[in-house]
Amino acid sequence: MATIEVDLSAIPEGKNVVLKWQGKPLFVRHRTAEEIDAAKNVDLSTLRDPQADDARVQRDQWMILIGVCTHLGCVPIANAGEYGGYFCPCHGSHYDTSGRIRKGPAPLNLAVPKYKFETDTSLVVG
Ligand code: FES
Repeated sequence: MATIEVDLSAIPEGKNVVLKWQGKPLFVRHRTAEEIDAAKNVDLSTLRDPQADDARVQRDQWMILIGVCTHLGCVPIANAGEYGGYFCPCHGSHYDTSGRIRKGPAPLNLAVPKYKFETDTSLVVG
């Protein structure tokens, strides 16, 4: 399986970059402290696809996601929607700062690909 290496030093806090990996959009988001807090302070029983943020990230400040809406496959917009994470404009799905579905027709959270940190500034996905 092909991998992609990402230079994290080029991504400032608060920014979500969109890369292409395996023909799909790959989101790499440098979360702010507020975004991390928002992701952690959620009652999991209120989630449609319950997953703790800790199970979705390896390092709190880095959120790595496949940028494909789990409804019908559109590419969500970062830093948008009612939960400050992602918003899919096709049919109005709102994802939080952990990429979890919170509102709208999508059934599942945005997928987290396999990845690892080679160093503090080098991420390898795949
Ligand atoms: Fe995203 Fe339908 S494809 S809400």
